[in-house]
Amino acid sequence: MKRFFLPFVLMAVAFCIQAQNPLGALLPMPNKISLSDATADLNLGHISVFQSNLLDTSPVIKEFKLILNKRLNHNPLTIAKSGAKIVINIDTILKGQEHYTIKTDKNSLIISGASEAALFRAMQTLDQILLGDAVRTTKKCIAQLFIDDSPRYERRILMLDPARNFLPVEDVKRYINEMAKYKFNVLQLHLTDNEGWRFQVKSHPELTSNGKFYSHDDLKDLIKYAEERFIEIVPELDIPGHTIGILNIHPEFACTFTDSVAIKKAGGAGGMLCASQSGVYNLYKDIIKEVAEVFPSKYIHLGGDEAVLERNWGICDLDRKLMKELGYSKPADLMNYFFERMLSFVRNQGKHPILWCELDNIYMPANDYLFPYPKDVVLVTWRMGLTPKCQELTSASGHTLIMAPGEYAYFDYPQYKNDFPEFNNWGMPMTTLQKAYELDPGTNANIQGVMGTLWGEAIPDINRASYMTYPRALALAEAGWSQMRSRNWNSFKERLIPVLGDMLSRGVSYRAPFEIYR
Ligand code: ACM
Repeated sequence: MKRFFLPFVLMAVAFCIQAQNPLGALLPMPNKISLSDATADLNLGHISVFQSNLLDTSPVIKEFKLILNKRLNHNPLTIAKSGAKIVINIDTILKGQEHYTIKTDKNSLIISGASEAALFRAMQTLDQILLGDAVRTTKKCIAQLFIDDSPRYERRILMLDPARNFLPVEDVKRYINEMAKYKFNVLQLHLTDNEGWRFQVKSHPELTSNGKFYSHDDLKDLIKYAEERFIEIVPELDIPGHTIGILNIHPEFACTFTDSVAIKKAGGAGGMLCASQSGVYNLYKDIIKEVAEVFPSKYIHLGGDEAVLERNWGICDLDRKLMKELGYSKPADLMNYFFERMLSFVRNQGKHPILWCELDNIYMPANDYLFPYPKDVVLVTWRMGLTPKCQELTSASGHTLIMAPGEYAYFDYPQYKNDFPEFNNWGMPMTTLQKAYELDPGTNANIQGVMGTLWGEAIPDINRASYMTYPRALALAEAGWSQMRSRNWNSFKERLIPVLGDMLSRGVSYRAPFEIYR
């Protein structure tokens, strides 16, 4: 037998041993579960009517029917007003946007949720109960149990980067399908970078004149698709660095260097938007207006990372003049001016800004923020080694924080030695599945959620994105949803087996984590 197949065989064998457990494929792990020791099961195959206070057209009902069809080959079910043994209801007694319960006894299956989103999350749990309990499921039965579940963090995010390598809408939809299964609720799209500009701006058609991009209609279609899975899409436009894409089209908005020493210093600097030109702000005002119109999310991410300040604003004729006028001593001070103007466009559209958190040093020791972030900015911690400092600073300054620490949540990094990426690998550190699982985002009250990033330099298409995402994003899903007392590495390893088998059956690519079963 070829060695390549061994992990799959091991998984299949393990799955057979595991496959009689209603909790065996729950991922992320629900926060409260009680299993009845009653032996009688509920036979769902004998039930042909269900009741719900949702509309028959709700995505929750669609999902429920799909699950029963797929797992139990049970179809069709008709909807009734009352008296049914299966009940799917919004129940306002439940508190917390995504709070749901699932209760089965030998006569009934009652699924309640605080909202439609909560019920949709409940459906994923139901699906995994049926997946894990293969022997009962074969008989169209479900065990008697009670689950009362809600997430540890409000926002559980994955980020795709179609700026570097464009990802067609249909591929992003496939990615969303998979995210929904593990209760992720936000997809961030990194729409602009040095390598490309992917957002159609109707008032500036030149921005998309020579590359692949998403039209407003493409995005509206994608947003609707995501909404039907209760996933929000957050747009990101990265400024003032990571802007060579737009500067290729508008070179007049780059910094200007006239003296020969400055030109030499700026060589290879990584271009940046000039902070002192009104045209830059006028352009982004138009862009942000259209972004706000297309994306219903209340957030717009404006980047703010890896700006090569000293080698752009620090030596640009115009920016040096502006710094002098404003009484600033260093180019980082100009970030105050730049973002004050740019963030006002976001706020004027009724949106909240998000930025990558940058400190006054990119390595330890770092003592403070790069510049004093306005209070309403949500910050994302990402640089390796600097998350403890970001946590300390944000809890002192009161900024909301999203946790995307490079050590645990950068899924563009290799998952194991000698694994992908095989190109554009700048000596990336390794983030193993076990390392990803070790993330505890912490108990600080300002932590809003977790984010896994799939930077696209070495991700040519969605299959590679998916391969890099899974199974590590399953570890992140659990870090984002489950309380620490509900988490356990050995249990995760076991639950992973049927979940990966299920992914394989859907043709979703992932890396087989053979090393954790050795
Ligand atoms: C980043 O990885 N540049 C946020």
